Amino acid sequence: MIILGIETSCDETAVAVLDLPKAGSKKPVRILSNLIASQHEIHLPYGGIFPELASRRHIEVIRPLLEDALKEAGLQSAALEGIAVTNRPGLVGSLLVGLSFAKAYAYGLKIPFAGVNHLEGHLNAPFFENPKIKYPYIGMIVSGGHTALYFVKKFGDYQFLGGTRDDAAGEAFDKVAKILGLDYPGGPLIDKQSREGNDFSFSGLKTAVKMLQDKGTFSSLPDICASFQETVVDCLIEKTMAAAKAKRCQTILVTGGVACNSRLRDKFAAVSKATHKKTCFASPVFSTDNAAMIAYVGGKYLQMGRKSPLSLNAVANVSLESLSKS
Ligand code: KG4
Ligand code: ZN
Repeated sequence: MIILGIETSCDETAVAVLDLPKAGSKKPVRILSNLIASQHEIHLPYGGIFPELASRRHIEVIRPLLEDALKEAGLQSAALEGIAVTNRPGLVGSLLVGLSFAKAYAYGLKIPFAGVNHLEGHLNAPFFENPKIKYPYIGMIVSGGHTALYFVKKFGDYQFLGGTRDDAAGEAFDKVAKILGLDYPGGPLIDKQSREGNDFSFSGLKTAVKMLQDKGTFSSLPDICASFQETVVDCLIEKTMAAAKAKRCQTILVTGGVACNSRLRDKFAAVSKATHKKTCFASPVFSTDNAAMIAYVGGKYLQMGRKSPLSLNAVANVSLESLSKS
């Protein structure tokens, strides 16, 4: 089934074309194209995302990006058999651009479309490169907007186990980077700086970093970055391993933008080896926001006959617990 995926929940416009084999088939998923138009330069002066500018940019680039995605896939629009689009959660103005576009396109082509929960997309992204992942698994989403642990019994069945009470991990990376005078998004920059830092000090996070910086506790930027990063990584690993133990689960999936973090990957690999668990990551291009993960999830729902009505709306906040009920 040839599926078009559209993702505009935040500040990246993403379009992908997937060839999704029938359920139960041994054939791998083929990613025919997976394009992302970054809005990085637009939001850089604001040190974060400017929602109104994000929506306007989505409108400008979505159509040409779709044309490029079809061209790269070597297909005409008539070859599309279904459309998957993120309709929740996210910036509502941004979501509405992708959703309205998807509805109109599906209507014009007389093909079904499916609204997809962005978090469900993240939770399934590691399957492209690890098709043999075994259920059940502990799924950890660590992104700029979310930090949450799920127990996933099968596709579509997600039990929320816990999450952050305040900032998402990626948000903490970005805010600490801002305090330290680094650009947005700060996660990759902290990751890079940390490779040269060796001194650690564990006295809390965001506010603590500010206090430590003011007090001159650290001799260098790499040391502050490494210390902060180590604290976040240890906390994420500890909670995930505790969940895996409580659920007697052998497999762990780590996904979302922060899953690109090099220290998180290295430490998870070491802890998994020591505890005889299997931890799976997707490559960075599928860990951060992308439309291939949306096409994958929406395509699966379409194969199950679960298409969305043209009245489907965009939803800014969807409680994490409701993922499997939505
Ligand atoms: O999943 P994503 O692309 O968008 C959301 O759904 O939020 O995640 C973006 C987040 C940003 O906060 C960014 O700083 C963080 O992922 N990030 C990283 C790294 N690469 C991206 N955080 C830490 N280390 C990295 N290497
Ligand atoms: Zn995301």
